[in-house]
Amino acid sequence: MNYANSDQTSLKDSSLEEIPISSSLKEMIHKLGLNKIQKHLFLCADQTKPLCCSKEVGLESWNYLKNRLKELGLDHPNSNINPYIFRTKANCLRICQSGPILLVYPDQVWYRNATPEVIERVIQEHLLNNKIVKEYVISVNSNQ
Ligand code: FES
Repeated sequence: MNYANSDQTSLKDSSLEEIPISSSLKEMIHKLGLNKIQKHLFLCADQTKPLCCSKEVGLESWNYLKNRLKELGLDHPNSNINPYIFRTKANCLRICQSGPILLVYPDQVWYRNATPEVIERVIQEHLLNNKIVKEYVISVNSNQ
């Protein structure tokens, strides 16, 4: 399928608001502030097959990430002083070594060995100060 020529709704199409969805879904979208998310983090943790790190190490990182974003008030839409950062626990990000693997969107920066110490640096340097933590980067989108 050629997406460039398809007749799909434009991403900016305001008529998206008119799409019929249930009130409970609307409520959840509003509650989570989906349209206000600025960064989305995916962390490989609690895997079905823990390959990049042990289940315990992945879960320790996941809990650290969740708690720190909450402590810093970054886990909900705020006054635009700080970014609203959404996080998702990924079962596997297909790297399967040197984990936990952490991916930051929309920047498309991939980090290895995302232990609590590395996550803290990613939060402070990358998310809050727009400086990539080079020592732990394994890939950056080459189109940026
Ligand atoms: S198990 Fe972590 S990337 Fe595959």
